[in-house]
Amino acid sequence: MKKPWGGRFKEATDPAVEKFTASIHFDRRLYRQDILGSMAHARMLCQQGLITPEEEKAILKGLKEIEAEIEAGKFVFREEDEDIHMAIEKALVAKIGAAGEKLHTGRSRNDQVALDLRLYVREEMENILALLRRMRLKLVEIAQKEKNTIVPGYTHLQKAQPVLLSHHLLAYEAMLARDEGRIRDALVRVNVMPLGAGALAGSSLPLDRKYVAELLHFPRVAENSMDAVSDRDFVIECIFACAVIMMHLSRLCEDFIIWSTSEFNFLEIGDSFATGSSLMPQKKNPDVAELIRGKTGRVYGHLLSLFTVLKGLPLTYNRDLQEDKEALFDTVDTVSSSLEVLTSMLDHIRFNRERMAAEAAKGFTTATDVVEYLVLKGLPFREAHSVVGQVVAHCLERNKTFVDLSWEEWVQFSDKFGPDVYKVLSPEASIRRKKTVGSTSFREVEKQLNQAIRRRK
Ligand code: ARG
Repeated sequence: MKKPWGGRFKEATDPAVEKFTASIHFDRRLYRQDILGSMAHARMLCQQGLITPEEEKAILKGLKEIEAEIEAGKFVFREEDEDIHMAIEKALVAKIGAAGEKLHTGRSRNDQVALDLRLYVREEMENILALLRRMRLKLVEIAQKEKNTIVPGYTHLQKAQPVLLSHHLLAYEAMLARDEGRIRDALVRVNVMPLGAGALAGSSLPLDRKYVAELLHFPRVAENSMDAVSDRDFVIECIFACAVIMMHLSRLCEDFIIWSTSEFNFLEIGDSFATGSSLMPQKKNPDVAELIRGKTGRVYGHLLSLFTVLKGLPLTYNRDLQEDKEALFDTVDTVSSSLEVLTSMLDHIRFNRERMAAEAAKGFTTATDVVEYLVLKGLPFREAHSVVGQVVAHCLERNKTFVDLSWEEWVQFSDKFGPDVYKVLSPEASIRRKKTVGSTSFREVEKQLNQAIRRRK
């Protein structure tokens, strides 16, 4: 079997080498982008008089047929074709003969694969943007429903202060909004058209790169042909953006996992989104959330793997670059499926409002409110902090909470305490009294909600 590049070769490729170097079993995923790029290239070749309109027509028709065959599952992918680029070109030549041999004029697989990859990344990132948006909408919808639900807020996983559940959920909405921004930023640099770079040095043929860019909706062409064929920054940036998304999803999952324990009992995940144990009949496990948390690791791995592949590469193209694809594909699959399943799961979570509210009232969660009460009565902050610390210790020794304390007990600790202290002790009062922008007060959370609703438009 003669290879398209086999002119100078006297021996056939060793089967082990063929198997080892082939990428067709994974890069066949780029068939649509490859065909799209080739069609634009063919149209440009014709416009520039490098092929005739008849040849152009035959190429376009042939490529469309190949696309249909691949989509119908009728196309046979062969290892000896090495990669998707050669497989399609070979099929085209088999179909239309001599005209097919002209398609690769002025092109190398180096700029071809760079183009395919940019088209692919652009499309997949748009899809991830849509999924992020869907999840944000869902979070806003649930935050609307839970805007009166009070939950303990934690630091160090120790009860800290009461917050609104909607505030907690909108924190994740804010993270996902930043994630969208990161992808949009990266897309500016993805959106650069590399074709015309050739193998590395450009071409002596009169190729019209701007025209190809126009046909494929790229606002710019790559300025340096050597950079064009060896740059994979755009892949790294997108995997990075995906790694941050996974990190955010993983944190939300971790909250849900903890909250679903019988110890917390803040929520229940519906049966259709939970799994059981093969041994322990009583168990209901949050496996979806755990898997998202676990899969975050593989996306981090892909990011590091790409950094490592690139770090020692001399300019320009090296076959090492073929290793970018599986990392990218798996990242896209992992992030997309995680976003999808987690968004669906949000509809199957029942928050245990009573339990959350009851827990928010325990553990002296309004101690800071009492400190701020004293500050407003003129006590220096450090002194107020110490006074309330002593009140807490007093309660702990007597197995009491703030609300159990009599008026006489309060004034033992400071003469600044008035009977109005009882008005600051409940979680609800704590939330109501918050005044700062971005706080968990009913008013500020309502503002956040409106902001999020406006942002999503
Ligand atoms: N399969 C190759 C890749 O993924 C395509 C480019 C091959 N170019 C080459 N000069 N061998 O990178």
